[in-house]
Amino acid sequence: MPEILEPKAARVIRLVDQRTANLAEIARARMAATPIAANGLLADALGRPLHDLRISVTDRCNFRCNYCMPKEVFDKNYAYLPHSALLSFEEITRIAKLFAAHGVRKIRLTGGEPLLRKNIEFLIEKLARLRTVDGLALDLTLTTNGSLLQRKAQALKSAGLQRVTVSLDGLDDAVFRQMNDVDFPVHDVLEGIEAARMAGLGLDANGRLTGLKVNMVVKRGTNEQEILPMARHFKGTGITLRFIEYMDVGATNGWRMNEVLASREVVKLIHTELPLLALQPSTPGETAQRWGYADAHGNLDPNAGEVGMISSVTQAFCGDCNRARLSTEGKLYLCLFASQGHDLRTLMRDGASDADIESAIGHIWRVRDDRYSELRSLGSPDTGGGAKRVEMSYIGG
Ligand code: GTP
Ligand code: 5AD
Ligand code: SF4
Ligand code: SF4
Repeated sequence: MPEILEPKAARVIRLVDQRTANLAEIARARMAATPIAANGLLADALGRPLHDLRISVTDRCNFRCNYCMPKEVFDKNYAYLPHSALLSFEEITRIAKLFAAHGVRKIRLTGGEPLLRKNIEFLIEKLARLRTVDGLALDLTLTTNGSLLQRKAQALKSAGLQRVTVSLDGLDDAVFRQMNDVDFPVHDVLEGIEAARMAGLGLDANGRLTGLKVNMVVKRGTNEQEILPMARHFKGTGITLRFIEYMDVGATNGWRMNEVLASREVVKLIHTELPLLALQPSTPGETAQRWGYADAHGNLDPNAGEVGMISSVTQAFCGDCNRARLSTEGKLYLCLFASQGHDLRTLMRDGASDADIESAIGHIWRVRDDRYSELRSLGSPDTGGGAKRVEMSYIGG
């Protein structure tokens, strides 16, 4: 089996502890004794269903956001995965189909930057043909930094992508260039968002724009001055702006709690100028708390749109976390903060049947008890024996 490249320089981070990476072997042994056929009703050890699958299609990115791929680590010596290690589009589609049989309804493509994966629209075409256990199309979406959207939005839509989420950490060009750390202009991302809108990404069945989202990671001391300008800019556009608390994900971003600006502070700040009203969650297991804008009479203004708060640090949402993550090289991770993945690629390349893989997924999910953020807020983080956590660019946000 092709191995992950050994680091060439001391500061290159090992992505996975190879001594423990092959957990699928354990699942394989269990599965041989009691196969699990998919019936769409899988639940983990804490009773959480399997609803979302997030698939990372590349570990590369053309940005170097300091909180995700700091330049000092992800430099020219960094050992990215070789092409042979990546799952092919056929392999990804095969696994996605088995996940759908287990109850997955939403697939999000991530990276790194997913639009850097060559011919990504061919993968989208294949995934768009899959169906949920109820015979419906999957909710098929993608997270992008927007740099290539202007060029690709139409092709993505034509291939069957339904919606897109663009990461954007500010409107001020100097702040944005500093945050992406490759001097990329904000104007081009805004054009990318516009291209996505023009292509019809994010339109729901009734032709309403509900699925085009912008995610802003808020780092205290870096971009909190961008919160209000971002809220003003996107209010009333139909684009949903969401603020994300800066998280301690990965092992390279030097995270410190004093750089986290709690969502309640963000709400307070926006509320001083643009009064907000709390909205009900639209689906169980949603990452964001939703807020609408009030009109001059204090009633919800339906034309103003909404903002979301993703409070991963101050208000953990592990209780109904229904997300599985498939890494670029085919390892299944049960939590964003996991240090080990279950190697489905080896299982597949060793000739396992669909029933075998389906059963392995079932066994892996059934014993899942991950709830990192909840444990952290209780003051007892347990991330797997002190092993290094995987990077967000490898596992996908
Ligand atoms: P929608 O279906 O569009 O609402 O997507 P989503 O909120 O599930 O996904 P999105 O990728 O937009 O998530 C936004 C951000 O929330 C990510 O970039 C992460 O920072 C954070 N996030 C998403 N899922 C998780 C999770 O399972 N755990 C934690 N701790 N954070 C998460
Ligand atoms: N904390 C919060 N969000 C993060 N992302 C990447 N790293 C972090 C972090 N440390 C988010 C980015 C992007 C997605 C890929 O993941 O904003 O939206
Ligand atoms: Fe690239 Fe997104 Fe990570 Fe920034 S947050 S480095 S755009 S993957
Ligand atoms: Fe899910 Fe892990 Fe995030 Fe909790 S910390 S919400 S279990 S991914």
